[in-house]
Amino acid sequence: VSAVSPEDIAQAAARLRPLVRRTPVLFLRPGELGVDFAVTVKLEYLQHTGSFKARGAMNSVLTAPAGTSRVVAASGGNHGAAVAWAAHRAGLPATVFVPSFSPRAKQDLIRAFGAELRLVDGYYADALTASLELAATTGALHVDAYDTVATVAGQASLGVELAEQIPAGEPVVVACGGGGLFAGVTLALAGRNPVVAAEPHTAPTLLSALAAGGPVAVEVSGLARDSLGARRVGEIAYAVAREQHSRVLAVSDEQIEQAVALLWDRVRISAEPGGATGLAAVLAHPDEFGGDAVTVVVSGANSDARSTPPR
Ligand SMILES: Cc1ncc(COP(=O)(O)O)c(C=O)c1O
Repeated sequence: VSAVSPEDIAQAAARLRPLVRRTPVLFLRPGELGVDFAVTVKLEYLQHTGSFKARGAMNSVLTAPAGTSRVVAASGGNHGAAVAWAAHRAGLPATVFVPSFSPRAKQDLIRAFGAELRLVDGYYADALTASLELAATTGALHVDAYDTVATVAGQASLGVELAEQIPAGEPVVVACGGGGLFAGVTLALAGRNPVVAAEPHTAPTLLSALAAGGPVAVEVSGLARDSLGARRVGEIAYAVAREQHSRVLAVSDEQIEQAVALLWDRVRISAEPGGATGLAAVLAHPDEFGGDAVTVVVSGANSDARSTPPR
């Protein structure tokens, strides 16, 4: 796996600027969001397709090899919706594999953007196997959800925006599944803002990789498995976490549920569990931030309307 360079990130940000939304930030005073310090929320669920995944998917489609005539992807749902959207914008047919527990809201989005949806028994990892097989037999481009330069550089454009929106030095907390968002934002903000990864106890991909000395397969379950349920963290995210000595904070499903509820109660944001996991880490580990302001990314809001996904 090759490293993602500052040029990759600058080019992706320039390429994406006319095509993705520059999502706003909401500044909340101490006490407004469950902790006694200020919290800035990056409202990334307002992105096209309802999650940041639009960035990496569009960058991947825009940099596809010449002659690409079809794309395939595997996803818990959000990356699939993003690939369906990007392919539709580029006039390419798309096939998306998702685990059958993927919420209806995500499945409906994938179909709404005109992609062929295929349900797979099992987890994201099983959908990935199916996507790679179809790519190998048809020559279609497999748009990876988190472990390619194009995807990570695309997600980094969120960090490029944050550099214009928040003060230097302020920690930024993002949810980590396969780690594309974490890696991209960390690289975009390196030397300016520390980036902290948040992951569920039920899907500890980055913590396990750091403990084992490399990405390892872990059991995944829990509330956020349709977004943070990659079985292993990407090689790129692992390398970035090692190089940058990144902090990783784990949260329980109950803490994720509390973060989802707090976002609704206080600011009427209807985040999905994975989208609220960054805030959950701040609520669960306030002492990690020494009382200073933090930024959290609310990365997605595609859940079955106000209901709880199955465990
Ligand atoms: C809403 C949301 N947040 C965070 C993530 C984690 O992204 P990554 O796999 O790049 O770590 C996902 C992945 O699907 C997601 O859908």
